Amino acid sequence: MKILITGGTNGMGKGVAKVLAELDNQHHEIIVLGRSQQLGDATIEEIKNATKNPKISLILCDLTKLREVRNAIDEIHKHHTFLDAIFINAGLGYAATRVETEDRMDPHFQVNYLSHFMLLLNLLALLEKSSHGGRVVFNVTRGGEIFWDNIQMTRNWHYEKGVHQAMVAKRMLLSILHKYYQRSKGSKVAFIGFEIPKTVWTNQINLIPRGMKIMASIMKSLGMFISIDDCGKIMAPLFTEPQIDNYKKSGKFLTRKKNRFVEMTEDPKILNSDLQKKLWRISVELCNDKITREIAEKFTQ
Ligand SMILES: NC(=O)c1ccc[n+]([C@@H]2O[C@H](COP(=O)([O-])OP(=O)(O)OC[C@H]3O[C@@H](n4cnc5c(N)ncnc54)[C@H](OP(=O)(O)O)[C@@H]3O)[C@@H](O)[C@H]2O)c1
Repeated sequence: MKILITGGTNGMGKGVAKVLAELDNQHHEIIVLGRSQQLGDATIEEIKNATKNPKISLILCDLTKLREVRNAIDEIHKHHTFLDAIFINAGLGYAATRVETEDRMDPHFQVNYLSHFMLLLNLLALLEKSSHGGRVVFNVTRGGEIFWDNIQMTRNWHYEKGVHQAMVAKRMLLSILHKYYQRSKGSKVAFIGFEIPKTVWTNQINLIPRGMKIMASIMKSLGMFISIDDCGKIMAPLFTEPQIDNYKKSGKFLTRKKNRFVEMTEDPKILNSDLQKKLWRISVELCNDKITREIAEKFTQ
């Protein structure tokens, strides 16, 4: 399997990258999408050394910049004729203030959702060429809402609201894409939402304020966190299982309980066609990218 992982330089993405790189006698190829050349190179060296898998590469992309998303898409198409899986994972978590992106957007909305929307739409053609059944795994959590009249959160900003708004948008996107593929393309690509059942001890711990850090350390001592490696082990089957099992999960919002993937009940608002169309229109508009618009138009034909 050839698997693209956004945010593979830290946290959950790195855990999944490491586990997949080692699985099946180092058979899988991993492409890490990261925003820093230095950290990207170091991560690739670390994974190669730890797993003895040489098939690890880096695509540079700062997801706060749509022009870099366009470059990353072009770069991926230049080097790869197919992809088997994408992990939609990179995300901004804690932030003390709202730092608008160069595209004048809310940072959580752009990094955690919109840049992934553009990336994914432009890579679907590569996933369709997978001989194992292309698959997209969205790192999502329950809860949250979209602030339709304040999507860029210029009012009432709080980082948690931003994180959750993006989660809702990602869950809506996976449902839209699943419905579209079912309707017009059969089982070529699966779109799966997954909520990790326990909090993962990630780089977020280094970014949060002192008070939150102390609280997290207490919770860790009580066994309330899992490591990024354990996170990787839990999630790996979603990327490597046979197409027949994977496609049964498409369009679903899953978690893991008692060693099994189980479906969670999705919020009716997420599945609402009118709201999905609204989010789709807004997303295409905000990407402001000719090729993305052309791809998106095919979905409405
Ligand atoms: N931790 C949990 O328990 C948990 C639970 C459920 C969902 N999540 C979600 O999981 C995702 C990953 O979070 P994490 O906890 O693993 O945090 P993390 O350790 O901070 O990892 C975040 C990853 O996203 C990347 N990233 C952030 N901003 C970026 C940008 N502008 N451009 C490109 N990449 C960017 C980071 O790159 P750098 O390495 O360069 O910083 C890093 O690789 C997030 O979407 C989060 O909401 C986390």
